[in-house]
This record gives sequence, C-alpha cells and structure tokens, in this order.
Amino acid sequence: MCWEFLVGNLLVGSLVLDNQVRVRRCGAYTRSSVTAQSRDDKRGIVITGGSKGLGYSLAREFLATNNSKVVICGRNADRLQAAVASLQTEFDDSCIQGVRCDVSNASDVAALASFAAEKLGTIHFWINNAGEVTGKKLLADVDAEEIVRVSGTNVVGSLLCCREAIRLMRQQESSSEPIYHIFNMGFSRWGASFTKSACTHKSTKVALTQLTRSLSEELQAAGLSSIGVHNLSPGMVLTDLLLKDSTPVARRFFNTLAEEPETVAKDLVPRILATRGTGQSIECLSPASAFFKVATGFPQIIQGGRFFDKDGNRVKIRGESYQENGVKLM
Ligand SMILES: *[C@@H]1O[C@H](CO)[C@@H](O)[C@H](O)[C@H]1NC(C)=O
Ligand SMILES: *[C@@H]1O[C@H](CO)[C@@H](O)[C@H](O)[C@H]1NC(C)=O
Repeated sequence: MCWEFLVGNLLVGSLVLDNQVRVRRCGAYTRSSVTAQSRDDKRGIVITGGSKGLGYSLAREFLATNNSKVVICGRNADRLQAAVASLQTEFDDSCIQGVRCDVSNASDVAALASFAAEKLGTIHFWINNAGEVTGKKLLADVDAEEIVRVSGTNVVGSLLCCREAIRLMRQQESSSEPIYHIFNMGFSRWGASFTKSACTHKSTKVALTQLTRSLSEELQAAGLSSIGVHNLSPGMVLTDLLLKDSTPVARRFFNTLAEEPETVAKDLVPRILATRGTGQSIECLSPASAFFKVATGFPQIIQGGRFFDKDGNRVKIRGESYQENGVKLM
C-alpha cells in the first residue's frame, strides 16, 4: 500500500515536472527576459491567414519539425479557434496559439504583434500569407467593396504586418547577417506574365514583389542587418484563391500544375528555414517545371486526373470532405 502510494506520487511528480519542462520550452516570455529566451531553442513563427489553406498547412509543417512555436491569425474567429484546437490536439498545446486579426486593420495588426511577442519571445520568421482574390470578372463589374477588401488584405495587410514585424525584430538581439526573416507572397519573376488571374489579384501580387524588393533595400540602407525580407511564390495551390470561379478547362490543367496545400507546405518549410541573406525568392513553379508538368501530364489535362475529372468536378478521396468549389476541408 505504502509502496504503491510512493510510486504513485513519484509518477505524478515526474509528470508535473515533465509538464513544467514542456511549458518552459514553449511558454510565454516577455521580451526583456533574455535568459529565458536563450534557454528556449524553438523558433518563433508568425503566419497570417493561418486558419485554412496554405497558411494552416505551413503551421502544421513547422510544428511537425518539433522545433517551432507558431502563432497563427485569421479573420474568422470560429474558424481560427477550430484550427488552433485541431493543431493543439496534434502537437504540444503551448506551441500553437492563435489570435483573431484582420490584417487590413492597423489596430488588429498591432494586437497580433504584441500577442506574438508575448507568446513567442523572439520572432524568427513572419510569413504574410493572408491573401484574397476578387471574383473573376471585368474590374468594372467587381463590387467596389470587394476591391477595397481584397487590396486591403493583400497590400495594406502586408505593409502593416511588415511594419509591425520590423518593429519587433529590431528590438531583438542584433546580428551582422539576417537572422530574422519576413516573407511576402508576391509573384515570382515570371508568374505575373503567366498567371491568368483577375487584375486585382495580379496588380496586388506585383505590388508585393516590389514591397519585398524596396523593403529589403531600405533595411540594408538603414543598417538593420538582422532582418531579411523575401518573396514566397507557392505556385498553384488547391485553395479558395485558386479555385474560386475557376473554369473546367483550368481545373483540368490544375491536375498537373497544382498541388494540395500540405504538399506545397512540405516543400516550402525546409526552404524557408534554410533562407539566408535578404531579398531572396522562394518559388515553387518555374517555367521549365510548368512546361515539363504540362507535357508529361497531358493525359490528365485531356481526360481528367488526380484532382478533377474531365468536366471539372472534384475527384473525391474517401474519408475526405470538400467545399463546393473543390477545396479539401482540413
Ligand atoms: C517529432 O516528434 C514526433 C513525436 O515525438 C515524432 O514522431 C517525429 O518523428 C518528430 N519529428 C521530427 C522531424 O523530429
Ligand atoms: C479595427 O478592428 C477593431 C476591432 O478589432 C474595430 O473596433 C475597428 O472598428 C476596426 N477598424 C476599422 C477601420 O475597421
């Protein structure tokens, strides 16, 4: 009896201890507690638009490295909460946190930044993933409000988030080489000419490519050598952004050119983690690889294939559910 009691207490004791150790490794720090930070070996990562699509898959992939603490944000509180809960079930609770934020709203973005600083301590990677598209129509026929909302998310959102990220990063321990990295989702060098998206999408994405270039130069000129700014072009990902208003013919091309968000995230995360310097561009689809994919995937384009049949209907995998537009539900 007595022996069992002792063993029981020891077990409980070590569980508590284990729990404390975990909490210490992932838990909250204030920016001033430098000793706590240096003891903490995990990378701090912020991902905007992280409650679905590519943002969610990126968060999941960073967490799967067992070496990251992640803060995601999203505009829809319910969806955000569901995303955080699902990641907390899969990974250590304290390594993944979320906060509701509309990136086009300056006070929301300021709140996101202080939340991230509190939960992560040091922020190593900040990924401006939140993005939207308008319906595929003539600009003249798109709702004015929709134009304001989409350019607000894509352009104003990235500007505000870069601003807050830099304000945090310039207070962190400095270095002569970039050790903190910001990513904007602009167009790759050739993406703008190849992609057939709505002109709101195209113009805002080109703006982000320029933002990355200018900001990277500005930081270097200002001597903020610890911070790198880069472009991230994930290519064609089967999310709302790509599938909204897509035609059956376009969908047949996606059979060979596009990938599910989790596949793209698996490719991107190691490349993001390996980023050095500033002004880099991580691109998933080059003209050569697109040509190769179209050439080798031609039967899938004609007859339908792994994602869409020849009428553009989603090929459903048993056990998975899908939105009406063909996006797989996470
Ligand atoms: C992370 O931890 C899980 C559970 O302990 C393990 O299965 C997985 O292989 C680890 N991943 C890496 C990349 O170390
Ligand atoms: C920004 O968001 C806050 C709440 O988070 C809200 O009170 C405020 O009205 C918003 N501002 C704008 C310009 O939408």
